[in-house]
This record gives sequence, structure tokens and C-alpha cells, in this order.
Amino acid sequence: MTPDLMEAGAERIARHGGPVDHAPQTESGGRAAGYGRHATGEVDVTHGRILYLEDVSVSFDGFKAINKLSLDIAPGELRCIIGPNGAGKTTMMDIITGKTRPDEGTVFFGSTIDLLRHKEAEIAQLGIGRKFQKPTVFEHLTVFENLELALKTDKGVKASMLFRLDSAQSDRLAEVLHTIHLEDSVQRLAGNLSHGQKQWLEIGMLLMQDPKLLLLDEPVAGMTDEETARTAELFLTLKGKHSLMVVEHDMSFIRTISEIVTVLCDGSVLAQGTLDEVQADERVIEVYLGR
Ligand SMILES: Nc1ncnc2c1ncn2[C@@H]1O[C@H](COP(=O)(O)OP(=O)(O)OP(=O)(O)O)[C@@H](O)[C@H]1O
Ligand SMILES: [Mg+2]
Repeated sequence: MTPDLMEAGAERIARHGGPVDHAPQTESGGRAAGYGRHATGEVDVTHGRILYLEDVSVSFDGFKAINKLSLDIAPGELRCIIGPNGAGKTTMMDIITGKTRPDEGTVFFGSTIDLLRHKEAEIAQLGIGRKFQKPTVFEHLTVFENLELALKTDKGVKASMLFRLDSAQSDRLAEVLHTIHLEDSVQRLAGNLSHGQKQWLEIGMLLMQDPKLLLLDEPVAGMTDEETARTAELFLTLKGKHSLMVVEHDMSFIRTISEIVTVLCDGSVLAQGTLDEVQADERVIEVYLGR
């Protein structure tokens, strides 16, 4: 990252009374979670950034889906990303998680991990969890079994069959069940849960791996108002312990959870600030919010 970008980010966070002060970095590195956390160590956030992208571009058949995109996120921050269809929001997540390689630019996790040097599975193991829009839980397994499975997916078949939760993992599972409000549904088949509950279960599966950064693409799409409200509460409890990047079109949800909102358009940042600030921005009204 250039010193300019770092300074700009630090200033911005200070201006918004940002999360760095009151949100210590996640303690995930010290936990004895089994799945996927081997040999990663802590992410170096001494520069106040858990994630930064600088001048990232990618084209598909000559069409620039991401165009000189620069963005950074502080440890413990809950960043909301909004923008019109086709703005490049999902593509940005594809780049961060290694699903899509950019043509140019820089993508760092903390100040030392160059994500462009890592494959998709490695990036997940480094502590970046991603939630796609459609829930992908195992419908024929119980809530408990789904969460348990999240701890053993990197093990071989035999090791998985012999796998038993140790006490730290059991504690973690109980904590996650509580966080996602599914304590009373622990023995229910995932297939019998509501759409919202399935989404929470999938978030719970990500939490079992204790990710430092969570990327959530349209998490409340298709949820009832009550489920949406509970999801907002959930994200507010996750903030600080994890860093979150949330893409949503639901503005009332964004209003409930947001600190800094980034507006993407045509593959780059059009505006950034509080929701009130970006909603008052003429350019944002023009391309997204309508008159
Ligand atoms: N693999 C791909 N091949 C070709 N074009 C792609 C590919 N992935 C994305 N695009 C194009 O890139 C642009 C950005 O798409 P993207 O899905 O990132 O938008 P988005 O902001 O997530 O939109 P939405 O709000 O509708 O989800 C779109 O024009 C899309 O058609
Ligand atoms: Mg999308």
C-alpha cells in the first residue's frame, strides 16, 4: 500500500470515530480451532488494515468489471458495500477470495499477506470466510452435524470418521449456536429450517473456523423482516471480533448496521461515507438510489 493510501485510510477512520480504537483485532489466532487454521499465525494489522485493495482491475472479454478499485478495511470494522447491479461487488469478493485473478493491482490481507500469491483454498485457511447468497448447508444433516462438519472438512475420510470434538471445540460450537440463535434447533435437520435459519447456520459454519474477515454477499435477500432484523443484530455482535464486508441492496438493513458505506459503480469506488452522506451525494442518487 502506498503511504498516501495508508494515511488516507487512517484519517478516514479517525474522522468516523472508527473501529480501530474500540475493536481489538480478532483473537482467533490463539484459539485451538481445528479446521483450516494451521500455520497461519496472526495477520499483521499494525498499519490499521485487515484488507486493502489498490488499483485493482479485471476485464471479462474486454469489459472492465473492476476498474482501478482501491479500498481498505480496518480490523473489526463492519463495512457495507452498495451499488447498482453489475457494479462489480461480487466480482470484488471473487478477487479477494482468489476465485478470480485480477489483471492488475494489489490485494493484501494485513500488511504482509499478498492474496494474489495464494489459491482459493489457502485464502480460506488464512482466515477469510465467504458467504454466497444461496444457503449451502447440508440439508439431510442436523444443525449440530453441520457445525461439527465445518471443523473437519480438511481432514481425510478416515480421520473424519474418527473425529471427536475436543472440549475447546465443543465450547466453540455452543458459543456459535448461541450467536446464531439456533440453540433450540440443534437436533433439527437443516432441511427443515426456514430460509433465514439456513443462512444463519451457514454463517455459523463459517464462524466455527473463526475467520478474521467475513465476506457476506446479499445475506438478507429473501429473508422476512423479522429474520432481517435478527441478522442485523447478529452482524452487530460479530463486529469487533471479526472484520466484515457486507454487500446488500436492502437500505433499511444497511441503515441499521452501517458505519462506513462504500458505493461501487462501474468497478470502482464512486463514494464513501456514512449512509446519510452517500445518500445525499448527487452522483450516487443518479446511478443508484434514483430521484
Ligand atoms: N466470470 C465472468 N465472465 C464474464 N463477465 C462477468 C463475470 N463475472 C462478472 N461479470 C460481469 O461483470 C460485471 C460485474 O458483475 P458483478 O456480479 O460483480 O456485479 P454486482 O455488483 O455483484 O451486481 P449485483 O448487484 O447484480 O449482484 C457484470 O457486468 C457481470 O456480467
Ligand atoms: Mg452480486
